Amino acid sequence: MSNSLNRRNWIKSSALMAGGLAFLSGTVGKLSAMPAKVKAVAPFKRVTDQTAILSAPPGPMKARLLANENPFGPSAAAKKALTDAIDTGYQYPFQQLGDLVKKICDYEGVTRDNVLCDSGSTPLLLAAAMYYSKGGKEIITGDPSYDDLPSHAQLFEGKWVKVPLTADYKLDLDAMEAKITDNTGLVYICNPNNPTATVLDTEKLKAFCERVSKKVTVFIDEAYIDYMPDVKAATMIGCVKAGNNVIVARTFSKLYGFAGLRLGYIIAQPDTVDKLSIYTPGAFNISATTIAAAIAGYREEDFLKDALAKTLASKEYLYSVLKAEGYEYIPSSTNFVMFPLKMDGKQFVQEMMKRGVGIRNWKFNGKDWCRVSIGRMDEMQAFAEAFKQLS
Ligand SMILES: Cc1ncc(COP(=O)(O)O)c(C=O)c1O
Repeated sequence: MSNSLNRRNWIKSSALMAGGLAFLSGTVGKLSAMPAKVKAVAPFKRVTDQTAILSAPPGPMKARLLANENPFGPSAAAKKALTDAIDTGYQYPFQQLGDLVKKICDYEGVTRDNVLCDSGSTPLLLAAAMYYSKGGKEIITGDPSYDDLPSHAQLFEGKWVKVPLTADYKLDLDAMEAKITDNTGLVYICNPNNPTATVLDTEKLKAFCERVSKKVTVFIDEAYIDYMPDVKAATMIGCVKAGNNVIVARTFSKLYGFAGLRLGYIIAQPDTVDKLSIYTPGAFNISATTIAAAIAGYREEDFLKDALAKTLASKEYLYSVLKAEGYEYIPSSTNFVMFPLKMDGKQFVQEMMKRGVGIRNWKFNGKDWCRVSIGRMDEMQAFAEAFKQLS
């Protein structure tokens, strides 16, 4: 089994204690040893609230543009592998996970000790939230940015330090660095940033990672990095390979079109992987069918290129609609676009939903903003039709 994880390593990579059901009791035991300040599960509830509107929309949904999914995926090869894997669905996918991890390691030039897989990146963000907030530590983030990790950290012992974005809606690295204290547990960088779709200068971010990671762990959430024209040039995985105290999170939920299939991973130093492994069952969360689909779809360049090209075409169309209606927008490096509204954000969401179009709103810099995910062309046309009635 040189090319795949043996069972022992698989269990280790899943953060499980050796020996059968010790898995559950061990994990639960460790979790119950966690700080006892968990007050609620508000972020999960929030997701439920968001999906509630979809489970009971006021009318037929014409465009689902609220969760930054990729409607062009998963690829045909991934779908076939997924259905083929059903027959062996009674087996734990030990070997298959090993094969997937090997693919990731070979492509990225890391070793399996650097990788921790899970059912999406969400459980890994949660693991980091729990670990790095211990003892009342501060989590530094941009504002607005993806709030899953810091909002969970707050439910444990963490303190959320929010740093406003720069005038061009990018994360303000200098201001974030200036906020680091002896009590900082983690700096969380979402690059490209959700919800503003802005991306940082690669060299500046690299220098930041090298410098700041000497003081504190830097978490780079690269959920949308696959939308960059040169992913290898933009990723901070090189900082991990250079030995820095940096964690890079990746997900199959976006360009791969696996949001409902659930697969993500982090690449980090082996001791970081070991520490975070305590806070999640890791690979035991992932289904055999999803792993099979991911093996078939990983770095399937033709599919990825095609999905990216379709996304860009839909995005150009959206830009033209916004311009024609006299709206400004933040130029986007991702599969979503943020623009300031001329009416109340909540009301706009409701009115668009009544017209079968799901989008999301934000409030920051004293303005109401809309975030539109990029969908198929017919979805963007449905957006345009509804938007013109309200703009
Ligand atoms: C920046 C960012 N990170 C992480 C996630 C979580 O993705 P998943 O758990 O599907 O991998 C999302 C989802 O939208 C996201 O926008």
